[in-house]
Amino acid sequence: MAVATKTPLLTLHNISKRFGAVQALSGVDFEVYPGEVVGLVGDNGAGKSTLVKTIAGIHSPDSGEILFEGHPVTITGPRDAAQLGISTVYQDLALCDNLDVVANLYLGRELTEAEVLDEVRMERRAIEVLKGLQVKIRIVRNVVASLSGGQRQSVAVARSVMWNSKVVLLDEPTAALGVAQTKQVLDLIRRLRDQGLGVVVISHNLADVFEVCDRIVVLWLGRPGGSFDVRETSREKVVAAITGAEFGGPADAAPADDPTAAKGIAP
Ligand SMILES: Nc1ncnc2c1ncn2[C@@H]1O[C@H](COP(=O)(O)OP(=O)(O)O)[C@@H](O)[C@H]1O
Ligand SMILES: [Mg+2]
Repeated sequence: MAVATKTPLLTLHNISKRFGAVQALSGVDFEVYPGEVVGLVGDNGAGKSTLVKTIAGIHSPDSGEILFEGHPVTITGPRDAAQLGISTVYQDLALCDNLDVVANLYLGRELTEAEVLDEVRMERRAIEVLKGLQVKIRIVRNVVASLSGGQRQSVAVARSVMWNSKVVLLDEPTAALGVAQTKQVLDLIRRLRDQGLGVVVISHNLADVFEVCDRIVVLWLGRPGGSFDVRETSREKVVAAITGAEFGGPADAAPADDPTAAKGIAP
């Protein structure tokens, strides 16, 4: 991947965001290139969700700059983000359990023909979309409640990328999944990358992050904690950045029996 020769899809420069007394983000830089999977990691409260919500147009930054494909942009709401081709899959998935797969894919964007739902066209296109992403769902007229967790996550991802997305943000996409289902979702993430999308994955699971990501960006108490090429780093280095060991943070200060400190030396 000749990343250095391309323009990033998305660039955040020196982003800060405060909620009352809490400085959720301070001076954060972030970028994602086409055909790249970036893992966004950090302890609870590190600012991951705030960063994603800033990109998604839920929060506006207090200061800093956002560029899309090299051009400065202002993202003042989810609609702006969608128009740029930025889509987000939040942790709770936001699927309707009692509706079928086709209805979920088209929720709020139904195709109509003379003001009547065009079920045939939606179903045909739904099957194409799922096939294009190699998501195996045999019966698209089954309700989403009947699907496995991996299939549900895949439907949520398909729903978010089927409208010309260029950047997709996934918040903990494998958190609720078993081993086989996690593999399904990681495979899907690789396919999105292979189609040239920029994918941002928030995850607590470093095994998943190391398996699927090209680069790992660490946030530490809302501050930049480093960007690591997965081929050139180790779990230990990333864990040290997450716990702030490098900055004289909690891992340095922690006693030897502190479980947070132990993580840093675990194999
Ligand atoms: N809407 C909000 N109002 C007030 N404080 C918030 C809000 N959202 C996040 N925070 C605070 O900002 C900090 C970063 O939170 P968050 O981005 O959710 O971290 P993470 O997703 O990494 O766990 C935390 O201290 C959190 O309590
Ligand atoms: Mg969060």
